[in-house]
Amino acid sequence: MNSPTPNAHSAAAGISIQDVEVTYGLGSAEPVQALAPVSLEIQGGSFVSLVGPSGCGKSTLLKVLADLMPPTLGKVVIDGAAPSTLRNAGRIGLVFQQANLMPWLTIEKNVQLLDEIVSKKSGDKRAAHKPRVSDLLEVVGLKGFEKKLPHQLSGGMQQRASLARALALDPSILLMDEPFGALDEITRDRMAFELMRIWQQYQKTVIFVTHSLAEAVFLSDQVVLMSARPGRIHKVYEINLPRPRNEETRLSDEFISLVGEINRELYKVML
Ligand SMILES: Nc1ncnc2c1ncn2[C@@H]1O[C@H](COP(=O)(O)OP(=O)(O)O)[C@@H](O)[C@H]1O
Ligand SMILES: [Mg+2]
Repeated sequence: MNSPTPNAHSAAAGISIQDVEVTYGLGSAEPVQALAPVSLEIQGGSFVSLVGPSGCGKSTLLKVLADLMPPTLGKVVIDGAAPSTLRNAGRIGLVFQQANLMPWLTIEKNVQLLDEIVSKKSGDKRAAHKPRVSDLLEVVGLKGFEKKLPHQLSGGMQQRASLARALALDPSILLMDEPFGALDEITRDRMAFELMRIWQQYQKTVIFVTHSLAEAVFLSDQVVLMSARPGRIHKVYEINLPRPRNEETRLSDEFISLVGEINRELYKVML
């Protein structure tokens, strides 16, 4: 695929997670401590995956980073600012398991609309510097589908549109919560390759939640293994596999042994 070069875009932001603790239902009869104090420093432009058993607080941590909820204790600093500053400026890109596209709008409009609303609200004047929707659709492999409605696209294609919509904001960070979780395995593998390519092109700081250790190792600079009750960081793996990564990467001994190592550790934390 011939990918257009994106326009000058924002530098990727570093993220500092400082003793973040989250308890749901504080003051209720049965409060749930979702996150024990969690601390993590994430370098600008890096790709970090969060893995761990269900209920270990991955989505909770992502919600705190996105300013969708405040932490009970501790704080998050993104590029020297609070997450709310970034969110108000429309600089946080979110991708979830469901694409949540507006069913009555074309793909092109879906990708455009969020940025238009957010830019208007925040008085953002960067429009001229932002990636163009037509370029984004080409990058995510949806060229030719601009005028289609969401229901005319497969699940994988809808997720591509949802990624393009997040990138249209020209976000400082991109938060992805099991974005390929609803896709079949073949589509999913393919999406991981595509995401890798797109990330290399846009150089955003990405926090990516997944159940697939192979997906995490393939994509990431760091894989953060969390444990549950309450959620905490168990271990951080540096993934030094050479880039660019490709099909060969997944077949290499180093890749296979890394996935195995994290898998063994995951079993331990699930006991
Ligand atoms: N809105 C909520 N109210 C009460 N408890 C919640 C809420 N959301 C999540 N939890 C609990 O917090 C813990 C972490 O959940 P979550 O962040 O969704 O984990 P993960 O994404 O790793 O599966 C779980 O025990 C879950 O049941
Ligand atoms: Mg979750």
